[in-house]
Formats: sequence, structure tokens, C-alpha cells
Amino acid sequence: MTAPATTVTPPTATTALLAASGLHKTYGSTAALAGADLSVRAGEVVAVMGPSGSGKSTLLHCLAGIVPPDSGTVHYRQQEMSSMSDAERSALRRRDFGFVFQFGQLVPELTCTENVALPLRLAGAKRRAAEERATHWLERLEVEDVRHHRPGQISGGQGQRVAIARALVGDPSVIFADEPTGALDSLNGERVMDLLTDSAKESRTAVVLVTHEARVAAYSDREIVVRDGSARDMAALA
Ligand SMILES: Nc1ncnc2c1ncn2[C@@H]1O[C@H](COP(=O)(O)OP(=O)(O)OP(=O)(O)O)[C@@H](O)[C@H]1O
Ligand SMILES: [Mg+2]
Repeated sequence: MTAPATTVTPPTATTALLAASGLHKTYGSTAALAGADLSVRAGEVVAVMGPSGSGKSTLLHCLAGIVPPDSGTVHYRQQEMSSMSDAERSALRRRDFGFVFQFGQLVPELTCTENVALPLRLAGAKRRAAEERATHWLERLEVEDVRHHRPGQISGGQGQRVAIARALVGDPSVIFADEPTGALDSLNGERVMDLLTDSAKESRTAVVLVTHEARVAAYSDREIVVRDGSARDMAALA
């Protein structure tokens, strides 16, 4: 496990890989984000915590360039995301970002190997090279024995490991994980978190980890708490 989260200070605008500032996002009369700031260094694991409905997923979607904020900025490698074209933003998501969601969201018709190889195939890799790389990551996540199975034939914990392998296969700079252990029991959840954070540290991949569980957040280098649409760094409160 890493050092206590409260000892690590947030990066500055120039040292951050990804930095959000003053994000606002309103849905109808609901302010999902009301001035949220968050920044992440290369290779850092940041936990985003907070009660249900506080704006955690909205913050993650804005950071990943999936949802545009109403106001505020998101910079990735010093470049403002809203200044990019849709095509540039989706290329960025494919090339630099990986995603893990609560229920894995694997493609049911494909085997686990084909699921993990999919981002590489979409980026133009040949089948054999993509599947070799996918097999490496399935081994790293300790699920190579289910590589020929389809998602309907494996357990929830195995599915999350396959989803993490798929997120890491393209060597992303950032993984966005929204409640990646939310559907797992505590033992499986811990194993998945060990594998996710160890693999991310080895590859110097930053992780933005949304969770409402303190024992999951304990895997992070730093904790951010979201309340009523604004985000506070726990280090700043220490
Ligand atoms: N697409 C949307 N349309 C309308 N309202 C939305 C939408 N997305 C989020 N909201 C609202 O914005 C607020 C924040 O939602 P968000 O999903 O970010 O919360 P959360 O912290 O991720 O919650 P949970 O822990 O339950 O996943 C909530 O009140 C939610 O209902
Ligand atoms: Mg959510």
C-alpha cells in the first residue's frame, strides 16, 4: 500500500498531466458540478470520493472529454480540451486514455482476448500482434485461463480484470475508473485494486478512481472529496 493520502500535495498547473479548473455543469435545475477543480500528475493514483449524486461521475466524464462542461477548463498536457475538435478529442480518448466502469462493459459477442485486443485492432494493429499483446495483459491480470471465454461465461471479478486489461493494453497515460469494484465482494475488490494499481504504477499510468468506499480509496496516492459539485483535495485540508 502507498503512503497516507494526506501527505501528498496536489500538482501545480505546470506539473499536472491533467488539470480541471472551475468546472460547472448543470442538468436542468440540477448543478452536477459547481466550480470543481482537480489535477493529476503522471503516474499518480487519485481517488475521487463523495456521496451519491455529488458529481463524481460527471467530474470524471468532463476530465475524460466525454461531457463538455458549461464553464471552466480541462487541460491535458497543457492543451485545453474544448479547443480540440471532436475528432481530436476522440483520438485522444482512444490513444491516451483507458476506461473501466462498474460492470466492465465488455462486448458480449467477443472472447476475452478479442475484447482486450479490440482497442489495438481499432487503432489498426494486425490481429495476431493485438492478440499477443492482449494475452500478455490477461496474464498480468491473472485471467489468462478465461481468454477463450465470452463475458457471459466468466465471474464479475474476472470480468473486471479483463476490463482493466483492456484499459491498459494501449499503454494509456490515464485510466478513468468509475466504481471499478462496485459490483464485487470485498476480497475480489481488493485483488482487482491491487492488480489495477500495481499495473498502473509499473506503466506510469495515472488513475482517476471514483469510489465511495474508503478501503478502495486507500489504494490512492491522494484523495479528492466531491460535495455538492465542488471538489476538495484532502491534502489541502490536512
Ligand atoms: N445525464 C444527466 N442528465 C440529468 N441529470 C444528470 C445527468 N448526469 C448526472 N445528473 C445529475 O447530476 C448529479 C450528479 O450526478 P453524478 O452521476 O455525477 O453523481 P455521482 O457522484 O457519480 O453519484 P453516484 O455515486 O450515485 O454514481 C445528480 O443529481 C444526477 O442526477
Ligand atoms: Mg457515479
